[in-house]
Amino acid sequence: MKRILALGLIVSTVALIAVGVITLYDYNLSVGRMWKTPAIKPHEKPIPVMAAGSVPFTGGEALYRAATAETITPPFALSEPAAVAAGKIAFQRYCLQCHGPNVDGYGTVGQSFAPPPDDLRSAKIQSMSPGVLFKEISYGIPDGRQPALATTMTVEERWQSIAWVKSLGVRN
Ligand code: HEC
Repeated sequence: MKRILALGLIVSTVALIAVGVITLYDYNLSVGRMWKTPAIKPHEKPIPVMAAGSVPFTGGEALYRAATAETITPPFALSEPAAVAAGKIAFQRYCLQCHGPNVDGYGTVGQSFAPPPDDLRSAKIQSMSPGVLFKEISYGIPDGRQPALATTMTVEERWQSIAWVKSLGVRN
C-alpha cells in the first residue's frame, strides 16, 4: 500500500512539474498564442457602413484581375505620407497576424504556414515592383500560401499596404 502511495505521489509530482514547465513556456513565448486574441462578440462594435463606390460600374476589380503585373501601376505616389500612414493601419488589419508585428514573418497565425510568410523587408521583396506585389496580395501566389485578399481589402487599401511595406526599406 505504501509503495502504491509513494508511486502515486511521485507520478503526480512529475505531472505537476510538467504542467508547470509547459505553462511557463507558453506564457513566455514571444510570438503570442491564439488564445490571447481578444474575442469580439457580434454587435459589440458598430457594423461598418459600406463605402460609397464599393460596387463599381466602371473599371474596378475585373480590370486588375485581367491585367498583367507589368502593366499595373499605383493610382497615387507610393511615397505619399498619407498613403504610407494609411498603409500601416491596413497592414495591422490584414497582414500582421501572419507577417508579424516586425514584418519578419513571425506572426501568430503565420507560424503555422509552410512555407512561412516571408520577411517583407528582405531585399527580394523590397525590389519587387508594386504591380507584382499588388497582384500577389490581391490574387495570391500560384501554388503558394499568400492568401488572395482581393475580396477582403479595397483596391486602395492594397496599394496603401504596399506603400507602407516599401517605405520600410531593406532590413539592415
Ligand atoms: C493568412 C496569412 C497571411 C496573410 C493574412 C498575409 N500573408 Fe503574405 N504571405 C503569407 C505566406 C504564408 C507567404 C509565403 C508564401 C509562399 O511563399 O508561398 C506570404 C508571402 C508574402 C509576400 C511574398 C511574395 C513573394 O513573391 O515572395 C508578400 C509581398 C506578402 N506576403 C505580402 C502580404 C501583405 C502586404 C499582406 C497584407 C495585405 C499579407 N501578405 C497578408 C501569409 C499571409
